[in-house]
Amino acid sequence: MWCGRVALRRLQRIAVAPLNSLSITGGLPGAVQREMSSLPRVYITRQIPPEGLKILSESGQVQFDLWDSDDVPVPRKELLQKVKGVDALVCVLTEKIDAELLDAAGPNLRVLSTMSVGFDHLSLEELKKRGIRVGYTPDVLTDSVAELTVALLLTTSRRLIEATHEAKTGGWGTWRTLWLCGYELANSTVGILGLGRIGVAIAERLKPFKVKKFIYTDVAPRPELASLINAEYVSMDELASQSDFLTVCCALTPETKDICNKDLFSKMKNTSIFINTSSDPPPHCQCVLLHA
Ligand SMILES: NC(=O)c1ccc[n+]([C@@H]2O[C@H](COP(=O)([O-])OP(=O)(O)OC[C@H]3O[C@@H](n4cnc5c(N)ncnc54)[C@H](O)[C@@H]3O)[C@@H](O)[C@H]2O)c1
Repeated sequence: MWCGRVALRRLQRIAVAPLNSLSITGGLPGAVQREMSSLPRVYITRQIPPEGLKILSESGQVQFDLWDSDDVPVPRKELLQKVKGVDALVCVLTEKIDAELLDAAGPNLRVLSTMSVGFDHLSLEELKKRGIRVGYTPDVLTDSVAELTVALLLTTSRRLIEATHEAKTGGWGTWRTLWLCGYELANSTVGILGLGRIGVAIAERLKPFKVKKFIYTDVAPRPELASLINAEYVSMDELASQSDFLTVCCALTPETKDICNKDLFSKMKNTSIFINTSSDPPPHCQCVLLHA
């Protein structure tokens, strides 16, 4: 895999000829329209940052069509129609790229780029089988997700949601000794499940809060990354039982799908705070949390 920008550059090299299909249809001489229609076709499944569209438009080397919405995913039926015969596909997390979709696209499809670091929506096996190159966007959101994780962690530990609610609804009275005390990061043990880019970025931001110890688990020790934050490799059980704060930073894969299960939660301290910014919690995880 390589990043989406590189995939887009590759698209630029695929063919030669003018502008995109959205801006250049009506009113053109027949010959130009014919030339246009011979250009490689790209389908984009959601509004993407304008810079991306600009690259495609200005290349003059592809024609593209997009699902012009920021918030509503393209309906599956529409998607299956739109991908027919395309040469390239730019998608986001909401589109399941599986055998059905790849069959609908047909043999022209050579390259796919997903605007995400997670790729659990892609059937890599099917893509590999068909020789389709894949681009993704690692590191684009590392800082954002790390900041979000710290924000959620502090919001939870300092009980900001309850405090805000009390302030808004008149419950905020005189100063009280034992009210909404929360838990300190100082002298705590922070556990990281999946020490990759985001896990390290979270730990780097939490360090100044005087965390006592960072621990992590992963498929195997990651000494180079761990040394950046002085983190200790532990087993999953140790991670669960020792963490005062547990952050989930691993990709959603068949192996990690059910990793945050009842067994894990039952081993955690009653006072632990669990933060998952790695993916939407699978239904299983939600169910366990509701009963925790
Ligand atoms: N919430 C958001 O908006 C948002 C945005 C970007 C990324 N993410 C999620 O964050 C995840 C991590 O991103 P990253 O850039 O740090 O990825 P990364 O690949 O650098 O790190 C993921 C880590 O998880 C580990 N891992 C994989 N399987 C594991 C398992 N079975 N047990 C323990 N560890 C395992 C990997 O070895 C790796 O070290 C992405 O996969 C994505 O799902 C969420």
